[in-house]
Amino acid sequence: MLATVLPVTLVELAFAKGEENFSFAVISDAHIQNVRSGEFVRSWDRGLIRAVAETNLLNPAPDFVVFGGDLAHLGTKAELDHGAQILAALHPKMRFVMGECDYYLDLGEYWSSLFGPAWYSFDHKGVHFVVLNSILTDEQWTHGPWGSDELRMHEMALLDSAHASPFMVGEEQRAWLAADLKGIPRSVPVVVFSHSPLQKIYRGWNFWTEDAEQIQELLKPFDKVDVIYGHVHQIQYNQIGNISFHSVVATAWPLPYPQSYTQAQTYLPKLTVPMNRADPFFERDGTGWQLVNLATGRADIYYNLYNNAPRNVAFNPATGRPEDTTYQAPETRIAPQQHY
Ligand SMILES: [Fe+2]
Repeated sequence: MLATVLPVTLVELAFAKGEENFSFAVISDAHIQNVRSGEFVRSWDRGLIRAVAETNLLNPAPDFVVFGGDLAHLGTKAELDHGAQILAALHPKMRFVMGECDYYLDLGEYWSSLFGPAWYSFDHKGVHFVVLNSILTDEQWTHGPWGSDELRMHEMALLDSAHASPFMVGEEQRAWLAADLKGIPRSVPVVVFSHSPLQKIYRGWNFWTEDAEQIQELLKPFDKVDVIYGHVHQIQYNQIGNISFHSVVATAWPLPYPQSYTQAQTYLPKLTVPMNRADPFFERDGTGWQLVNLATGRADIYYNLYNNAPRNVAFNPATGRPEDTTYQAPETRIAPQQHY
């Protein structure tokens, strides 16, 4: 890791001149699933293969590609190997985020042997990037009397699991993050990648990180902060204080917005902007991949949806929050469905 980034003035100058403008792509939640020996769920394979092929066609090519976690569905070697093989066709350099479905079978051992550390930072063209492993939980739960590693993995992979435990970044990484951010000038844009949202949205589905407020506190001093996360399989954006939050969609399948899941209590943050929703019964409308442009020092995310109009969510300096710039007019929104 580099200890410092470019001097502040140079960063601003570079952005102003447009010389250092760059983009990166994000692909996430492939959930490669092994059904029996050597056979994988074809639809999940195709979603990831398509993202890789389309990302390779981008011109200019993105500077790097981030994989946002849940490459595997149940954390097996076969799934991780198969997913890694599909991703190996990508031309740009890759960065990896750990998802719970990669982790809870062998506690990340095989994933780490393929992709390296689960938390780290790097500097790129005047932007400080941080990758966190946000899907950890209590040691007691993790090492509880599960009987089998498969059972532990299944519980964490379920929605509405009665036995799951809330995700957290944890003390060790929070201390590391505080030290990592110490030398970074406050005006340098900071982009954080995590698998679960670093905000509390809906606990039943673990759209949640237990120590989110403590992470937000560490990011508070910076002028421009974007948190980009996977896990939720839908488009979400939000602003809390100085931090813009953006989810990315899955290549595997979309999930409905918790708010539309009317039987459930929700904890949608007050600041959440009303959004279009993916139809969970139209398998591919809410899947795809994204291209992130950092020309302004803030994430401007282009969602390439496989079976729906592309979406663009960018920071609006007038309102101080990310907004859907192409599709937010009420008359053009797809009406939400109610599920009873
Ligand atoms: Fe996940």
